[in-house]
Amino acid sequence: MRVCVVGTGYVGLTTGVSLACLGHDVTCVDLDESKVEMLRAGRSPIYEPHMAALLAEASERLTFTTDYAEGVPGAEVVFIAVQTPSLPDGNPDLRYLSAAAESVGTHVDGGDFTVVVNKSTVPIGSSNWVDSILREAFERSHGRRADGEFTVASNPEFLREGVAIFDSLYPDRIVVGSDNPRGLEVMNRLYRAVLNQTFTPPTFLPRPGEVGAVPMVSTDLASAELIKYAANAFLATKISFINEVGRLAGKVGADVRQVARGIGLDARIGPRFLEPGVGWGGSCFGKDTAALITTAEEYHHDMPIVRAAREVNRQQRLVVVDRLLEELRILKGRKVGVLGLAFKPDTDDLRDSPSVDIARQLIARGARVTLHDPVAGERFRREQPDLAGQLADTIDEVFDDADAVILVTKWDHYLDLDWGKFVGLMRTPVLLDGRHCLEAARMHRLGYRYLTTA
Ligand SMILES: NC(=O)c1ccc[n+]([C@@H]2O[C@H](COP(=O)([O-])OP(=O)(O)OC[C@H]3O[C@@H](n4cnc5c(N)ncnc54)[C@H](O)[C@@H]3O)[C@@H](O)[C@H]2O)c1
Repeated sequence: MRVCVVGTGYVGLTTGVSLACLGHDVTCVDLDESKVEMLRAGRSPIYEPHMAALLAEASERLTFTTDYAEGVPGAEVVFIAVQTPSLPDGNPDLRYLSAAAESVGTHVDGGDFTVVVNKSTVPIGSSNWVDSILREAFERSHGRRADGEFTVASNPEFLREGVAIFDSLYPDRIVVGSDNPRGLEVMNRLYRAVLNQTFTPPTFLPRPGEVGAVPMVSTDLASAELIKYAANAFLATKISFINEVGRLAGKVGADVRQVARGIGLDARIGPRFLEPGVGWGGSCFGKDTAALITTAEEYHHDMPIVRAAREVNRQQRLVVVDRLLEELRILKGRKVGVLGLAFKPDTDDLRDSPSVDIARQLIARGARVTLHDPVAGERFRREQPDLAGQLADTIDEVFDDADAVILVTKWDHYLDLDWGKFVGLMRTPVLLDGRHCLEAARMHRLGYRYLTTA
């Protein structure tokens, strides 16, 4: 099928590359010329495992352009995957979505039937709103009213950065919201090979044995939109819940990792997202929980659980600073190393990263911080220029003469460090494991004063 993907960020690029890998002909449109240039040269603008390999493998069926006229006309499906960041009041900023919809409406072919798919995470009701923008733009450019040429569907994305391609090829489910049977049929056809798992997997990402047919949740537009927000709010709440329990565990002398294991083995609860630590970050949980609350407010509906999940997460970042204050007493003039800048491992995404927040809080209290990330350094220099001077090239620089080191991102690179070598470089060997991922007894044996957020 001919597919167009508007926006080649973390979601759009993964969508485009995965669909091309399934055999569809995909044109990706992005207004960012430098991104398009890089992609044309076969380089990925984001760090995502397997992206470069898949870009190469699917290159014959993938085109990158800044021109909507090259992608939209003649496409059976047009995905909109532009960013929807938070405004200061918690509402999502929909100007990128509105601009993209307008351009799609201008270029959509009057001859064929096109399904315009909201893949961006958008507030409930956005599909109707996008439909009206498309119609107005179509009318303006074609000089007549749209009459059955297109329909709008909602197909929220659930990929996890760091395993994005795996999640696209082997998803837990595919959700499609549509009130048009023809639109639903097109989406079914588009995803058939994933739903039935009949595609040939790339050699570097073989199909796991347990993956069978993928369930498709086909529903109305509002339900599809709410499924995305509810899923993210639930996951964010699960993490905040274990962090709230973790703080009590620390007070009563319990081991939160054992508590998490003990409750996670209950099949009704499940072990995932029960990892205590500095809490969640990234581009989605913060903005999507805020958007859910503001949407609810429009209907005079309160969401106290979601509000609490956000509040616990905010406090969790302060816990790190409090722990260091308790331990070092004075933060002014102390050298504190921070391991990990990306909001989680296997991505270079720095949006709402706990490390950046923690580093800024430490600096505000007079500490000197040294920052390190095995992958996200370059992006960090671009996006946080005022902190770029604090970036270390080597891990030695982070530990050298440090009063404390905080492990914030659980990169394998850090788990595999020769921890025994670094303790000797520190002025005081305080190690705050912000992810509860190192073995306490071993760290004590090596000479660290080992702390966690619990
Ligand atoms: N990142 C994730 O893990 C994730 C997961 C699920 C859902 N989502 C949702 O998907 C959406 C996209 O997220 P992302 O992380 O990929 O964003 P992103 O910022 O990485 O990418 C957005 C891209 O859209 C491009 N763009 C903006 N306006 C455009 C326009 N008018 N025409 C063409 N291109 C345009 C930008 O240049 C950028 O490359 C958001 O709504 C997000 O909430 C993200």
